[in-house]
Amino acid sequence: MRLSRYFLPVMKETPADAQIISHKLMLRAGMIRQTAAGIYAWLPLGLRVLRRIENIIREEQARAGSLELLMPTLQTADLWRESGRYDAYGPEMLRIKDRHNRELLYGPTNEEMITALIRDNLQSYRDMPRIFYHIQWKFRDEVRPRFGVMRGREFLMKDAYSFDIDEAAGRHNYNRMFVAYLNSFARLGLRAIPMQADTGPIGGDLSHEFIVLAPNGESDVFYHSNWEQPGRHIEADFDDPKALQSIVNDHIADYAATDEKRDPLREAQAGEKLCQSRGIEVGHIFFFGTKYSKPMGFTLPGPDGKPIPIQMGSYGIGISRLLGAIIEASHDDNGIIWPEAVAPYHVGLINLRVDDENCQAIADTLYKRLEAAGVDTLYDDRNERGGAKFATMDLIGLPWQVVIGPKGAAKGVVELKNRASGKKQTLTIEEAFNLLKTGH
Ligand SMILES: Nc1ncnc2c1ncn2[C@@H]1O[C@H](COP(=O)(O)OP(=O)(O)O)[C@@H](O)[C@H]1O
Ligand SMILES: [Mg+2]
Repeated sequence: MRLSRYFLPVMKETPADAQIISHKLMLRAGMIRQTAAGIYAWLPLGLRVLRRIENIIREEQARAGSLELLMPTLQTADLWRESGRYDAYGPEMLRIKDRHNRELLYGPTNEEMITALIRDNLQSYRDMPRIFYHIQWKFRDEVRPRFGVMRGREFLMKDAYSFDIDEAAGRHNYNRMFVAYLNSFARLGLRAIPMQADTGPIGGDLSHEFIVLAPNGESDVFYHSNWEQPGRHIEADFDDPKALQSIVNDHIADYAATDEKRDPLREAQAGEKLCQSRGIEVGHIFFFGTKYSKPMGFTLPGPDGKPIPIQMGSYGIGISRLLGAIIEASHDDNGIIWPEAVAPYHVGLINLRVDDENCQAIADTLYKRLEAAGVDTLYDDRNERGGAKFATMDLIGLPWQVVIGPKGAAKGVVELKNRASGKKQTLTIEEAFNLLKTGH
């Protein structure tokens, strides 16, 4: 993409209404703009990162056997009356009336809708186990929307729902999602610690929050020091309940708690030292058994023909919040440092002198070759000062920068900078191309 044709409204000054670094950087880097309190428009650069994150989540859901579908944002009030949550949900729910005065709501979550959908379309216990998910915008009329996409009113969530015929099978599906979450966050370059959690209005008795450590997080966190290394992708057999349970046990064994109502320091094992920090909740999983299937009459005939009440769980990831969490975890004084896996472009190509024939020819050629090789490149071909170009590239945080200046161009070399390490090297055009294409 040529920057001269792009829409990248970067801001030099720190916006006055932003309090935390991720919010400031997302505004300054031209990724989002607020359109109403807690509601954001996603500009092209921000949207690319959002899509990258979505796709990683999709791949890990598929690996765990979770099937994608898409439910609407608008739901009927009557559906929520079936579970009894319509009145219980309170003012966080945005209630709407259509032209016939029928009561609708903008979905804050989808337990009721998926329960009705699956109830009405499956016939037998043999159709279990199941996990479905969708990635859809949610609306919660938060009292205090703040910190940009971190606590919005409209936000993008991946929510999955599991269906099983007994509790053991339900726990197996819960463990599938647990491991899928560890893997998703590891691929996003995050260390997310699973912590036992309150189930809140969703209900049930088994629940974990996945928390990313960050000084600007909203939760208090106590954790074991071995959680500070970045997560690794776990190769797991998702169909083997024993293997999955042991992975889950391994990760719960060294977790620490987040709950204000408990005293994690006292609960820690004798001799165990806990670290204290703040954290961001990026995911939350629940196993709640028959909490929705019972009132909504979702049973399936078992082997003997008798109805079996269906065991359910639900599993959320705050996809739009993840952008904030990743930036909180990965930035410096000059801007964002995107992990490779979610970077909006792989390479930022800077032509320092558009009026120099050599520079122009080398930059154009390299840009075309990179694009042809499938290396996502943002090409700063604008007639701007070098300083401004460097500052913009650092701010938007692409993993690699290639700088083409008149002196190097005359000798056929370019400068390659790694955004994370700051390390610079002078390379021939061929060497630079190969390194960017293959990663080494
Ligand atoms: N207002 C919000 N803005 C952005 N993301 C949110 C918001 N509320 C929840 N999320 C994300 O969605 C995930 C699932 O939400 P859930 O646990 O149901 O909500 P809550 O934590 O408010 O009980 C959370 O872990 C979080 O990552
Ligand atoms: Mg939660």
